Amino acid sequence: MTRLDRYAVFGHPIKHSKSPRIHRLFAEQTGQTLEYTAQDVPAEQFQSAVTTFFAGGGKGLNCTVPLKELAWNYVAHKTERAQLSKAVNTLALQADGSLLGDNTDGIGLVTDLTINHGIALSGSRILILGAGGASRGIIAPILEQTPHSLVIANRTVDKAVKLAAEFDNGGSITGCGFEVLKNRQFDLILNATSASLSGCMPPLPTGLLAKEGVCYDLAYGNEPTAFVRWGQENHALKSLDGLGMLVEQAAEAFFIWRGVRPKTRPVIELLNSERKP
Ligand code: ATR
Repeated sequence: MTRLDRYAVFGHPIKHSKSPRIHRLFAEQTGQTLEYTAQDVPAEQFQSAVTTFFAGGGKGLNCTVPLKELAWNYVAHKTERAQLSKAVNTLALQADGSLLGDNTDGIGLVTDLTINHGIALSGSRILILGAGGASRGIIAPILEQTPHSLVIANRTVDKAVKLAAEFDNGGSITGCGFEVLKNRQFDLILNATSASLSGCMPPLPTGLLAKEGVCYDLAYGNEPTAFVRWGQENHALKSLDGLGMLVEQAAEAFFIWRGVRPKTRPVIELLNSERKP
């Protein structure tokens, strides 16, 4: 009997990961036969767990918190977008037996915004809150959409300034602290801080969101996050969380592994329907 093609997500913690469900739904929908499991892998066991997984016939891996930077260091051969983001969320076994590292988070976000929600990024004034790994992963794909301007604001100002400088090739990206956001307005505000998950909000001035502006939290939960609630209170045209991004980054990984692009809308709708009371 031949074994099913094996895929997995590694992370710590991993119990609540929606990735196995999403990939099984994709497989069902596209008629692909595969196995996708979740494995709890603490950072110190990452290297041996990856080696064991691929030595045992694994075909592809997703890596999530806190392993994306470790995966970036682990894999020699990376796509350009992974190289830039300094994080790898997808490992794919190549025909020659080598591993390719990719990062599908940024394209997942852009697809969710532009295709699923019809939000044009070109010509928009965009603000990213936070200057950690989550921010780094989305900057290049956002700049590719030619926004009018991109501002990165962070509690530790120096990190935002440095991150912006790394991606600056024409002056449309700048880094700053939250206090200088006063009297500025943005068409799209993306929350890439980890504050929202713990129910905290960065100190944002009123009037920051332009009329008909959109808020998007990269995090998601069963309940609206603190940032999604902030968007609603500030009359955002849409105030969204990152569930769509999660499904889109998974679809991109599925495509890399299987060469087939699953339909994401039915999967997003199903997961959304399950978290509504
Ligand atoms: P990730 O990989 O999820 O981006 P990270 O690299 O630890 O995680 O970055 C977390 C981000 O959330 C940082 O930008 C952090 O700000 P600092 O660089 O000043 O630490 C931001 N963050 C976390 N808690 C915050 C809070 N309560 N208010 C504002 N920003 C916060």
